[in-house]
Order: sequence, then C-alpha cells, then structure tokens
Amino acid sequence: MVQRIDVECKNESYPIFIGELPQKLEFEGSVLVVTNSKVAGIHLRTLLQCIYAKECFVCVLEDGEEYKNIQSVQRILETAFIHKLDRQSTMIAFGGGVVGDIVGFAAGIFMRGISFVQIPTTLLAQVDASIGGKTAINNKFGKNLIGLFHQPKAVYVNPFFLGTLSHREKSSGIAEIIKMAVMFDKDFFEWLSMQNLQGSSLLEAIMRAILIKKEVVVKDELERGVRMALNYGHTFGHVIEKETQYKQYLHGEAVSMGMIMANRLAVQLGYLSVDEEFRIQKILEKNDLPIYYKIPSMESFYQSLFLDKKNENHQIRFILPHNIGRFIPCTHLSKAEIMRTLEEFCDD
Ligand SMILES: NC(=O)c1ccc[n+]([C@@H]2O[C@H](COP(=O)([O-])OP(=O)(O)OC[C@H]3O[C@@H](n4cnc5c(N)ncnc54)[C@H](O)[C@@H]3O)[C@@H](O)[C@H]2O)c1
Ligand SMILES: [Zn+2]
Repeated sequence: MVQRIDVECKNESYPIFIGELPQKLEFEGSVLVVTNSKVAGIHLRTLLQCIYAKECFVCVLEDGEEYKNIQSVQRILETAFIHKLDRQSTMIAFGGGVVGDIVGFAAGIFMRGISFVQIPTTLLAQVDASIGGKTAINNKFGKNLIGLFHQPKAVYVNPFFLGTLSHREKSSGIAEIIKMAVMFDKDFFEWLSMQNLQGSSLLEAIMRAILIKKEVVVKDELERGVRMALNYGHTFGHVIEKETQYKQYLHGEAVSMGMIMANRLAVQLGYLSVDEEFRIQKILEKNDLPIYYKIPSMESFYQSLFLDKKNENHQIRFILPHNIGRFIPCTHLSKAEIMRTLEEFCDD
C-alpha cells in the first residue's frame, strides 16, 4: 500500500509517497535522471521502466561526498544544455542525500529554476534529506556552504531500495532518525530504544521520522526557527566530516559523534542529565554508530565551528537537547565554555 503525506509549504505543496513506485511515472516535458555510478549499477533499470516522458536522459555522477561540488553541478547543467532541456523539463534525483542535494541545486539554478523530483535510495535521504527543499554543495571552506531552497515537485520513498544498503549506510540513516526523536518526540525515543530497526519496525520508524520532518518544514520552511533543531549534532558533525576530508565517516556517523559532543555541552550547561546523555549514547551504540571522535587540535576544531551557516554575528549557534524530546538553541557561549567540552574529546 502506498501512503501519501502532503507537505504544505507557503507557495507550493507537494506529496511524499511512501511505498512502491507507481508503475507509470508520467512527465509532460523531457526528463533528466541524475544518479551516481553505484545506484545506477543496482537500481537504474527499475526506475527507467517506470518513467513515461517525451524524452528521458540520464546523467551518472561519481559516487561520494567528495563529489558534492561545483564540478558535478557543472556536469548536470552541461548534460541539460546538450539535450536541450527547457523550463518544462524535470530533473530526477535518484540516489542518496548527496545526489539529492546536488540535483536540487542544479534544478534550482538551471534557467532560473525547473522542477525536480526526489527518489531517495538511502535511509538517510528517505527520512531527511529528500524532504524540505534544502539543496547544497560543498567547497574547500566547508560543507553545504553553497546552495538554495528549492522544493521538489514530489518525493517517492520506496523502502525496497534500502535492501541493497550496507549496514553502515543503514545505521547512518538511523542516526538522523534518533536525532529527530531526541529533538522533538520523547515517545518516539522511548519506542526506538526498544526496537531492532528492521522490517516493519524500520518502516514504522521511517513513517514517524518523515512525519516529524514534514511538520518541522511546514512550520519553518526557510530555517529561521524550529527547523534549526534538525541541525542537532551537525555543528560538531560537519567539522568532523571536514577534518576527515569527508572520507572517513559517513554523514550520519559524523552526526552521531556530533550529537555526543552536543550532549556533553548540554550536560555541562545543565540542560541534559547525565542519565539522559547515557540513554542517547546507548541507542546510538545499539545501532552500531560511532560515539567518540578524538579531536586532533582543539584550536582548529574550534575555529572550524565558525563556518556553520546557523551562526550569526560571529557567534556559534549550538542546538542542544533540553531533556529528551525538546531542544534549546544556544548562542552566547564563551570560548572557555566550548573548550571545556572539546577538552573531553582530546585525550592527551
Ligand atoms: N538537504 C537536506 O535537508 C539534507 C539533510 C540531511 C543530509 N543531507 C545531505 O545528505 C548527504 C548524505 O546522504 P546519504 O547518507 O544518503 O549519502 P550518499 O548519498 O553518499 O549515499 C551513501 C552511499 O550509499 C550509496 N547508495 C545509495 N543508495 C543505495 C542503495 N539503494 N543501495 C546501495 N547503495 C546505495 C551511495 O552511492 C553512497 O555510496 C550529505 O551530503 C548531507 O549533507 C541533506
Ligand atoms: Zn544530516
């Protein structure tokens, strides 16, 4: 059975379909499917069988976060120009969050913006990245620093694609699910603590996480308030990803270690109890997520925190758990307060 959730944004609303892909995915204009080499090898044929369009082209990018850059955007745009896509055309992002973010951006700037559809194939992209219209690429200064808001026309979440994900990739998606529970929904957290997420329980977790993400996005499309809470663990996590050249850890793994750092800060500031901190750590460990990042240089880690998009007036903005199920943004921390937390991740 296919379930439908509508994301009602101010200017446009769009459906998220959860379940099998429709047998016919119809488009009026031409279509450019953008994917990466790995997903193309496993699932592209399944997708192409469903697409009914005037013309359908495919652009295959290299696989990996290190390709989430302007060169990949350039490749998509060139393919679009070569095949004479126009403003009636649609781009389809078929892959994980990396493909989704790049394609959303490319579709947002091609001829000042054309439609795009998200068909996420990782757990992380199904519960988080494909919903809400945030698009971005990285550059040498940091992650996701170039991008725009461009909402998809539709999102098709087909859990069938998850069958070929590695265990690590699955856990990486679970990190984002745990993030949503800690920030917004204590009951969901309690429920998650008791599950081994697979089969029907994984499906239920996907559904609940999508509902949370949808609520948040509808309340705060442009991330001026509540949506910032989706960045829990990311302020630290993005620095971890950058310091390890986007190669050593998957995004969700970096977020997991980032949540542990945010929790430590929250405990030190009195927002989270040690017991709650322990419970969050346990659920991350149970899902085989890494929980400890050893900071090579505190000063350079600290400086990198300033490149976060949430910051204002050179103040780092942390999103911290305020007990489990609530959050608190935190801006006016001194360097000493932040360093006190970082010290705990520097074991020399
Ligand atoms: N826009 C947003 O709101 C948002 C939210 C969260 C994360 N993100 C971004 O998403 C990215 C992370 O997404 P991700 O974890 O999906 O990473 P990813 O896109 O790199 O995918 C992870 C790996 O799984 C492979 N893969 C994809 N689908 C597969 C399948 N069905 N079977 C087997 N392998 C498959 C990919 O090729 C890749 O090697 C980050 O760049 C992050 O910044 C964006
Ligand atoms: Zn994330």
